[in-house]
Amino acid sequence: MKLLLDTANLEDIKYFNTYYPIVGVTTNPSILAHEGGDVLELLKNIRSIIGPDKELHVQVVETEYDRIIEEAHAIVKFLGKNTFVKIPATGVGLKVTSHLSDMGIGVTVTAVLSAGQALLAANAGAHYVAPYVSRLENLCDDGVGVISDIAEILSTGYSTEILAASFKTAKEVLDVALVGAHASTISASVLRNLLAHTTTDTSIAGFAADWKNAFGEHTLLELIKG
Ligand code: E4P
Repeated sequence: MKLLLDTANLEDIKYFNTYYPIVGVTTNPSILAHEGGDVLELLKNIRSIIGPDKELHVQVVETEYDRIIEEAHAIVKFLGKNTFVKIPATGVGLKVTSHLSDMGIGVTVTAVLSAGQALLAANAGAHYVAPYVSRLENLCDDGVGVISDIAEILSTGYSTEILAASFKTAKEVLDVALVGAHASTISASVLRNLLAHTTTDTSIAGFAADWKNAFGEHTLLELIKG
């Protein structure tokens, strides 16, 4: 399962893009609003940090068919290749998805809350569908079960991939990986929790202490180089 970072915070993007194996960054209007300032400069900076080869997902704000199409083309022209246009799962959104997909533009159908919506998005030619796991779980619904159903449907012959989104815990990320999500987009805090383990920290500290007791300050590199 591919991993993406769900934020527009430039410091977090710099850090995780440097150290973690992420294949891209996702944003939405709320995420961009959270950072504030000059949104065009922000998006350009994100593209500049991750480079031209990683995915950048940007959501349209327009709501009328013709304006969404125009906005989608403008987003891709502005941010270059490997930019995916996020289109909300609505009737207009499905028509937009069909058109943009036919034009070779990568579409992520977003705000997906059911397998039915995902089925429609896949038939419209979406590259990704983005189901909101935590928003479902918060309403006593089965977010992971919805991902599992979508994975089964897509395995019947669709090229559409699941980009699972809206996580509140690292456990949810593991759960969707186990039921067939192709990718997940994760906030900085949840991504940190995927790596964090106190026993890892104490193990590393133990290795360092044992080494120092036996060999002093010398590293293996220093000893090998002589
Ligand atoms: C993807 O970018 C989605 O918009 C995002 O994961 C939604 O997350 P939230 O439910 O935490 O707002």
